Amino acid sequence: MAIWVPDLSDRDGPKYLRIVEAMAEDIATGRLPAGMRLPPHRELAYQLGISPNTTSRAYAEAVKRALLKGEVGRGTFVRSASAEPAQAEPETLRRTDSGPTDLSRNLPMPGFSEPHIRRVMSDIASDAGLRSLLDYQTDRDLVHHREAGQMWLATCGVDADLECVIPVIGGQHGILSILMALLQPGDLLLAEALTYTPILAMAARLDLQTGAVAMDAEGVVPESFETWCREANPKAFYLTPTLQAPTTITLSEARRLRIAEIADRYGVVLIEDDVFGPLKRGKPAPIVQAAPDTTIYVTSLSKTVAPGLRVGFLKTPGKFAPALHQSVNLSVWMAPPMTLEVASRLVRDGTAVKLTECQQRAALHRQQLVQRALGGNAIPDVSEGFHVWMPLPEGWRADAFSAECARLGVRVSEGRSFAMNVGDAPEAIRICVSHEPNEDRLKRGLATISGVLQQKPSGTSLVI
Ligand SMILES: Cc1ncc(COP(=O)(O)O)c(C=O)c1O
Repeated sequence: MAIWVPDLSDRDGPKYLRIVEAMAEDIATGRLPAGMRLPPHRELAYQLGISPNTTSRAYAEAVKRALLKGEVGRGTFVRSASAEPAQAEPETLRRTDSGPTDLSRNLPMPGFSEPHIRRVMSDIASDAGLRSLLDYQTDRDLVHHREAGQMWLATCGVDADLECVIPVIGGQHGILSILMALLQPGDLLLAEALTYTPILAMAARLDLQTGAVAMDAEGVVPESFETWCREANPKAFYLTPTLQAPTTITLSEARRLRIAEIADRYGVVLIEDDVFGPLKRGKPAPIVQAAPDTTIYVTSLSKTVAPGLRVGFLKTPGKFAPALHQSVNLSVWMAPPMTLEVASRLVRDGTAVKLTECQQRAALHRQQLVQRALGGNAIPDVSEGFHVWMPLPEGWRADAFSAECARLGVRVSEGRSFAMNVGDAPEAIRICVSHEPNEDRLKRGLATISGVLQQKPSGTSLVI
């Protein structure tokens, strides 16, 4: 196959920027499609008759501009716009009873927490402590809130000393704070081959290299993690061991212990994202319990109480606490005491756990609806939580399947939008059961998907 060589004639400015500009144009016009591998920078330098330093600088600049993405050991690839949540933001997340049925958003069921939050806010409004909540605070002042965090962590199965509990503005802010605190540009961040996509955008922004840890039917493969550790010196490994995003797999205890042991041995920081963990009953203990000196555990109240609260907690090994406090401080000064107060009261009086149980029950009911509508062939096991992962029958491509659903008024997400390496994405879709408040709309949406499953894929949608 001919390699990509940009046309630099008629362009002004430094050579490396001319290459980047040509690249941006070729991506926009489709000459460089998403996922395409770029020639090694030495090869391109040879073709253009320029120094490899110049092409290397051009590639670095293109990575910074999120045009390209470096994958350790595989090369440099054109980024996929659909894997960039920042660019693919929906126009609205409002839940409505009209328009397309939206089964693409992994949000909790709305409504359960509202009366409790109303009550707690009214208590706070008439409380003398309100004045101090409206003031600037330091972590030392937030002790009361960190104690609530400690209680919440205990319900997640995590033991934490108070000085290791760090309030954050939800899980996403927690993860970004960790990356900002502990990784330097150029460091290698690992994630499961299919992952929570903001990780990729964060890594690109922070100039991190990324690597995909292989997964099989039981989730992330410890041996693949170990190979990365042995060969590429990763700094951190981000993973979601419970109700994995997007596959819903819950990692076995044996694999958790293996990963903990490998991370300890190679000194790799584990970022254990457990925002969905509370929705799963009877799961193995979080990895942080087995590797407390290497793991930063991320939890939030977004999926159980209310995402609008923007409250989460990190449990960190003591050695990272100062850097993490600094990172939170740098990004937002402090997690907002007002919402932390609301969350703390709900945790302390047991409401947060009750709301978690409401979400569990409602999600399980909807998961059962999915299996009933799509059948045991498509959905062999009823999962918990808000999302369903559906590998497609042979012959279907995920982009064609989701396009057909969209044409019929139902939004779902394609597997490739979660893939670290777009070229390796499975032909699967993610269906979320909780964004649509109206169950009838969900049922109609599922009936539509069922209809599409019964169609024969058209010629253009066949996997080649
Ligand atoms: C896997 C995963 N981690 C973290 C988050 C972010 O959670 P929060 O709303 O607490 O920032 C999400 C939100 O969808 C998620 O799916």
